[in-house]
Amino acid sequence: MFVYVFKYFFGIPERVVSVYRADDSGPFPKPYLGSNVPAEDRIDYITHHGFLRALGGPGLLPSTRRYMNAFAARMQEKSFSEEWTEMPDFSNFFRDVVGSSLVECLYGPTMLRLNPEFMQDLWGFDGSVPWLARGLPSFIKPSAYKPRQSCVGQLKRWYEYAREHFDESSISPDGDGDPYWGSNLMRYRQEKLLAVKNHDDDSLARMDLGLAWGAVGNTIPCAMFSAFHIFKDRDLLRRVRDDVEGSFGGQHLLDIDPNKLIKEPLLSSVYAEVLRLHVKTYFMVSSPHTDVHLGRWVLPKGRIGLMNAGISHMDNSFWNEFGGEHPVTSFWSDRFIIDPADSQSGPVAPHVRESPDWVEPRPDGGKERMDNKPFFSMDGTEGSWFPYGGGHSICPGRFLAKSVILFTCALLARDYDIEMLSDNVEVTTWRFGLGVGGLKHSLPFRIRKRST
Ligand code: HEM
Repeated sequence: MFVYVFKYFFGIPERVVSVYRADDSGPFPKPYLGSNVPAEDRIDYITHHGFLRALGGPGLLPSTRRYMNAFAARMQEKSFSEEWTEMPDFSNFFRDVVGSSLVECLYGPTMLRLNPEFMQDLWGFDGSVPWLARGLPSFIKPSAYKPRQSCVGQLKRWYEYAREHFDESSISPDGDGDPYWGSNLMRYRQEKLLAVKNHDDDSLARMDLGLAWGAVGNTIPCAMFSAFHIFKDRDLLRRVRDDVEGSFGGQHLLDIDPNKLIKEPLLSSVYAEVLRLHVKTYFMVSSPHTDVHLGRWVLPKGRIGLMNAGISHMDNSFWNEFGGEHPVTSFWSDRFIIDPADSQSGPVAPHVRESPDWVEPRPDGGKERMDNKPFFSMDGTEGSWFPYGGGHSICPGRFLAKSVILFTCALLARDYDIEMLSDNVEVTTWRFGLGVGGLKHSLPFRIRKRST
């Protein structure tokens, strides 16, 4: 899949793609037995190691904090007052404000300052991905290739500038961020990927475009849909506000602990439900050495299995529809909440649940479960909810994505009123398999600061 995506989506030349194809050493620190790839060309391990450290290890908290700061600053810059401001499109608002903040938390402020067109071109690239994925050559549709080329040029310009201006003293006290490269991840990629056989600035820029697209492509529409559902339903909005205010009181939102925020039950349920409803990505599985027995089925060794999250996410024989009140095709903010007082609650349909005593407080379940309060739960959904893929190649950005979505919704709900000005909310299927479908039409809305 990597080879296909690199070649068609990002235009990475064969001499570089061949390095990926030749790497049979695996993604783990220890190469697979029998593999003879030199350590510096173990591209699978090098890229994954960087992602895991930056997005799941020591880089995660600094990146999350940079996102929180960048998003809060952008909202401040908009200077919304207590009077309503009308805006033409909710989706574009998220692409602009949330998208730039997410790119900034990884690539730093300098990249966007040097390239004010980058976000527009990144979304232009996102729009052309379905064409590129179908292998349409540039002479048939040159416009599908333009934003990609433009992003690559902008990233290369940024590399030159950052090389000239960065030195170790620019690294922030958290040991991760810096104003020029933005994050340890970018410095790592410059050092390690450029040392790999046949790699150069052009191919690295194409890979960095891939990372930027991977970061925003699904996260931003998911954040948008989460906020959309919260603001659309007055009762849900009130509950989210009560929760945010109850948990964080008068605390400045920038001072909150992201690890605490991601445990908020209602916001977590909204997030899980939006991903269930909207993410329709494929991921591939393969077992190189042995057959895998899956109940009545077998995945023979070396063969490829293709799984689409969208199909599993819409399986009404598995998901709880609450007696038909909340069909799988609709948004239900509380689908992932278990209320110990209500045996019909929870994500899994009651007749499919493995454990009949699922509502019993478990000794290891922590405080929430012992005090009989409703709690967020994904128990039993492991093989059915997989917006991030699965196995070792599962999306390494999933923790950051959740923090981004929850923080964005918490800040908007606490500090702003938002009203949609149209009921025309249709989602395109044009991107099926590539991720979240966007809105077919512009969604005008109005926003104002809440009075303090
Ligand atoms: C709701 C948001 C997101 C969704 C639904 C999503 C989904 C996915 C999926 C399905 C994959 C392929 C997994 C596989 O092949 O099994 C993937 C890979 C990836 N994602 Fe995400 N993702 C999201 C957010 C992010 C964010 C915020 C980042 C980074 C900052 C990110 C970075 C990546 C990277 C780098 C890969 C490739 C990993 C590899 O080398 O195999 N993603 N994502």
